[in-house]
Amino acid sequence: MSVGKAKKGTLEKAASRNAPVHDVPARANELRTAFLQYFADADHVVESSAPLVPRHDPTLMFTNAGMVPFKNVFTGQEKPPALRAASSQKCVRAGGKHNDLDNVGFTARHHTFFEMLGNFSFGDYFKEQAILLAWSFLTGTLALHPEKLLVTVYVDDDEAADLWKKISGFGDDKILRIAGSDNFWSMGDTGPCGPSSEIFYDHGSHLPGGPPGSPDENGDRFVEIWNLVFMQYDQQPDGTRVDLPHPSIDTGMGLERVAAVMQGTHDNYEIDLFKTLIAASVDLTGMPTDGAEAASHRIIADHLRASSFLIADGVLPSNEGRGYVLRRIMRRAMRLAHMLGAKDP
Ligand code: SER
Repeated sequence: MSVGKAKKGTLEKAASRNAPVHDVPARANELRTAFLQYFADADHVVESSAPLVPRHDPTLMFTNAGMVPFKNVFTGQEKPPALRAASSQKCVRAGGKHNDLDNVGFTARHHTFFEMLGNFSFGDYFKEQAILLAWSFLTGTLALHPEKLLVTVYVDDDEAADLWKKISGFGDDKILRIAGSDNFWSMGDTGPCGPSSEIFYDHGSHLPGGPPGSPDENGDRFVEIWNLVFMQYDQQPDGTRVDLPHPSIDTGMGLERVAAVMQGTHDNYEIDLFKTLIAASVDLTGMPTDGAEAASHRIIADHLRASSFLIADGVLPSNEGRGYVLRRIMRRAMRLAHMLGAKDP
């Protein structure tokens, strides 16, 4: 359902903003609003988040990306709501192809439930405008310094590499070519897919971790904040790929990750959205957040969000399928709370 008609404006107008014209957003709610407004100004229709249980899609356990509600639009089976759309989509990655369940609590940037900010072009603009819009949002609206950013492209995507050079002025040292699945995005075993270009933020040399493609790329220093997917194919059940009717754009930026950047921390669990939950967990268990208990408080906070939103979207704990994933999430959070000393249900 559309909640906001795109204001008239031009892509060029949005992209030409290279200095913040208002206070730079930092709180998660402000960032969500700023993102949607920016894309509305560039003629995108703002769509509400779809439910966490994908409608009429047995191939997928949960909505795991902003593009999921538009799957049939990309493949040409449904008419698009507009040629350009933007959303902040509730996502759960706790089963199937995209599963972050086991990372939660042990990294600064993984969640079972998170919000994905995305802009979409259904056969309208393609690589150049997608890169231009993303660059302008990060360095203009959010006033991030280009020195703190670097990007990856799919190994043989010369076009994307050249566009990044032109738009950002980056040299080859900041446009890294990556082979393999990190720069080729697919929704699941079937469905729309294509090469991607990821934008990373460098949280600083005081943190361990190397750039994408290096042996220690999973450290906390370089964090992927935005993925631009150049949707071109539809993956078939037999593994073959057919061309989509039109080259399209699907981007996804983790709200919690960009909020961390804007709130001056590399740790998503220190942002405003998590602070109150973790404080409540400390309050109820009487255990501090440092040392051995740190991961437990994080897992409890993360799993509370996932459980609440899954239940609100109609999933109930059970012995199979989606309900079983919810049950596992609830059980893990409850067990940790119990181990931390919480006595009440
Ligand atoms: N679908 C891509 C992702 O989830 C971009 O939105 O990363």
